[in-house]
Order: sequence, then structure tokens, then C-alpha cells
Amino acid sequence: MKHINKFLTALLILTLVIFSNALYADERPILIQGAMPSETDYMISKLTDAKEINIMQYKYVSGKFADYPVIISLTGSGSVNIIISTLKAIEEFNPVIIINQGTAGAHDPKLHTFDIVLGSDFMNTSRWQSLQKSAGEGADYRDIIYKGASYFNYVGDDERSEEIFLQSDENLLNIAHEVISTYKQGKISDGVIATSDSWERRIDRIKYLHSTYGTSCEDMETEPSSQVASMFKIPFLGVRVISNSSLHNEEFNPASGEACQKYVLEIVKQYISKSKIVK
Ligand code: 5AD
Repeated sequence: MKHINKFLTALLILTLVIFSNALYADERPILIQGAMPSETDYMISKLTDAKEINIMQYKYVSGKFADYPVIISLTGSGSVNIIISTLKAIEEFNPVIIINQGTAGAHDPKLHTFDIVLGSDFMNTSRWQSLQKSAGEGADYRDIIYKGASYFNYVGDDERSEEIFLQSDENLLNIAHEVISTYKQGKISDGVIATSDSWERRIDRIKYLHSTYGTSCEDMETEPSSQVASMFKIPFLGVRVISNSSLHNEEFNPASGEACQKYVLEIVKQYISKSKIVK
């Protein structure tokens, strides 16, 4: 009896030590970005111990989701805002992964409002060099050679510059696939997310980008955010919900932003449960 009691006490202490200490492989926070309040407010409402932190004009809300540290970041729209806000978040919070999510316009005619695109690849549709054209030859949008993101390092032995084509982290993409069945408001598929600082509504150019580069949808943040993440070697996932489609005369519907956030929280829950050392 004495031995059994001692054994049970030891077991209890061991259990307490395991559960109160290293429950996760990594305790750094998950950073989830959205450009507009309609793309972040639902997630913020699901945080416990929420605390607002302001850096420059960028809002970050830190808290816990599924018992794990999460930062919801309101980035503002466009490349300059997303680059500054991502860099500041990395410096301040040292995130373990970055998920950039929000609304987008469809390029693929098969997609409708509330469908979701998981970014297998990212493209910046404003980064191109035009072909040489003489005066009077016009400025057709198709006269271009597409360039990837410019990566450079002029420091130390690794001195090089190159064009890079950015993608989501494979492991995060797989985790997103695992929870597809939780989403009931539309279809979910992998695709190319095209980013620029412009909103394209000309059907001919949308069709050109879709047929030439396989673009699924367009937004204003995913690609530059992924480039900043890649420079810091932080795994990145891009998730976009279709909020409008010029191809089908579907006007911007802000309710799609909440649908996307719900699905992203399912991805995050799955990621957290997989990063537990003790299940
Ligand atoms: N084109 C560009 N950006 C779009 N967004 C939603 N739809 C589109 C579209 N058709 C997103 C951008 C930006 C805001 C205007 O909404 O990412 O943050």
C-alpha cells in the first residue's frame, strides 16, 4: 500500500511537471494578419486575455486562442502598410508562423463570393518589365515580361541578387487541407494569389492574367507579406476568400471576411493541436 501511494505521488508530480512546462514544441505566438477591421474583428473577439498594442499606426491584439499565444494584426491595405506592419510584428513578437488572410477579387471564372483560395504560389502583378515599344506603338498591358520578387544580399560571402517566386509553407498548406471539411460557406481550392496595389476591373486583363499565369484571385497584401516572412525564414500561409468577382458582376461583400476568419481559426486550432508535445 505504501509503495502504491509513493508511486501515485511520483506519477502526479511528473504529470504536473509535464503539463505546466513544455506543453508545446515552440511557445512563440502565431501572427494572423488582416488589412481591414472586417478581416480581423471576428478573430479578435475569439481571443482570451486580449491586449491591444499599437506600433506606429498599426494595431496588434495579443491574446490566447485554444490556450496558445496569438497576435491578430490589423495591417492596413497595400504593399507599404503590409511590409511595415509585418516587419514591426516580427521585431516585436518574434512569431512562429505568419498567416496572411482576407478578401480578394476572383480571376478564375470557377470561383464565386465565399469560395476560398489557399495560396500555393504568390505573384506580384505590378513587377514586370515591358517589351521595347516605339512612339505610337501603344502600351498594351500584355507587352510585359513578368519578374519575380527581387531578393538581394550584398553583405558578406552570400553576395547575390535574384528573382524569387514565393509560395506558402508546405506543412501549413497541408494543415489547411486537413480542415477543409469544416468550411460550409463555399469551395476551397489551392491557387495562385496575385498581389498589386491596384484593383483590376477590366475583364480582358483579368482573363489575360488568369490564362497566362494561372492566377486565381487578386489582393493587395499577400505577396509582399510572404517576401518579408521568407527573409526571416518564418513559415508563411496565404488564405484569401473571394469577396467580389468582376467576371460575374459580384460586388464586394464584406461578410466574406468573417467567413474566412472562421476557417483560418480552424487552421490555427489544427496547427496548435499538432504542435503539442504532450497530447
Ligand atoms: N482587388 C484588389 N484587392 C482586393 N481586395 C478585395 N478585393 C480586391 C480586388 N478585387 C482586398 C485587398 C485590400 C482591400 C481593398 O481588399 O487586399 O486590402
